[in-house]
Amino acid sequence: VQPAGPGRAARLAVEDVALADVAAAVGTPTYVYGAGEIAARFQALARACRSHPTLIGYAVKANSSQAVLTHLARLGAGADIVSGGELRRALVAGVPADKIVFSGVGKLDAELDAAIAAGVRSINIESVEELERVAARAHALGRVASIALRLNPDIDPDTHPYLATGLRESKFGIAMSDAAALATRARALPDLRLVGLACHIGSQILDESPFLASFERLSGLVRALRADGAPLRQLDLGGGMGITYAPGDRELDVERLGAALTAAVAPLGLELVLEPGRYLVGSAGVLLTRVVGRKRNGERDFVIVDAAMNDLLRPALYGAYHPIVPVDLAAGERPPIRADVVGPVCECGDFLAQDRLLSPAGPGELLAVLAAGAYGMAMASTYNSRPLAAEVLVHGSEFAVTRARKTVDDLIADEQVPAWLAR
Ligand code: LLP
Repeated sequence: VQPAGPGRAARLAVEDVALADVAAAVGTPTYVYGAGEIAARFQALARACRSHPTLIGYAVKANSSQAVLTHLARLGAGADIVSGGELRRALVAGVPADKIVFSGVGKLDAELDAAIAAGVRSINIESVEELERVAARAHALGRVASIALRLNPDIDPDTHPYLATGLRESKFGIAMSDAAALATRARALPDLRLVGLACHIGSQILDESPFLASFERLSGLVRALRADGAPLRQLDLGGGMGITYAPGDRELDVERLGAALTAAVAPLGLELVLEPGRYLVGSAGVLLTRVVGRKRNGERDFVIVDAAMNDLLRPALYGAYHPIVPVDLAAGERPPIRADVVGPVCECGDFLAQDRLLSPAGPGELLAVLAAGAYGMAMASTYNSRPLAAEVLVHGSEFAVTRARKTVDDLIADEQVPAWLAR
């Protein structure tokens, strides 16, 4: 996001497309993604890992837009999926099955069947029960399923408690104390091929040390399995690479992260797998919204906008900070006010910012909620019968609508009223 090109410096743009032009053509609220920023992020991470074979498996959950996914597939990304839906999306986008890893704590039989039939690179096993179930499904399909064990390294990544997944008390992964027994069992099952170990310790991590700590926890088991003749192929250190949200936030040094992880994994002779979601798409997206009105209750000022918690849940759910800036950059010169930026949804938790110092914006003016490319649209709902926001992908000076705005009649048309009520 930057001021628009020569002569148009007063308006905010994604690449060379002024956000005001997008709003005029598509309306609001609209998610706008920059293809160039996504490519730059992907290439920066790939470059950082250049010294060792690395698969970057994009965590589809962060932004499952078919256009974004296809763009990443073209760049060479694999996919980290957590459902049959994401498997289907990744395959349709052109991600080769051999670049897809299947994570998730509650994989359904039908989802496992689809993944085994497609021949995904690995199914990341979460428990002994799942191990046996995958073997049975593979057997029934007459296939050998490639699996990895997802271990829980019990590492605290120093992030929001909802985003820490690698702690002993979380629901994710296999306890380290059970790992060796599960590996032995996996190797004894003829319908399974144990190709590696995996972990994912959390999200929005801003330095390499938690990744290196989990590598240390896993590497001993890798060596033991290797010594025992296991033909391992990969070590998957998960996703979780963070981005900058609030001004003054630390920035992840991706070059340093890549260098550290590849240097650690290289001596094992295994391919490195990473599962970044937020890092690739988070900073590439803005949520474009229009001011509905202003009000003041007692001491508190409110800027009411047409985007709400159903469009961007992160502030309500995690207290997450997203910068909010006026699209008309001249508005940035007005003396700032302190206000809550809230949506029209009937919940006190419906806010995009609280107690925020921002440029005042009046009814009809456009605002951009920044760093909204990850876990924005992906977590959106139609709560309060609000149709999902539109989505737009920018490429240089062009933009394409990648998800058209629906109408309330579309929402109603998705449902049926039983005959006895229609009579
Ligand atoms: N791999 C696995 C197994 C995961 O569970 C996740 C995210 C990722 C990779 C990608 O993590 P990332 O690189 O995007 O941090 N809704 C939250 C984030 C939830 C992340 C869940 N798992 C948010 O808005 O911050």
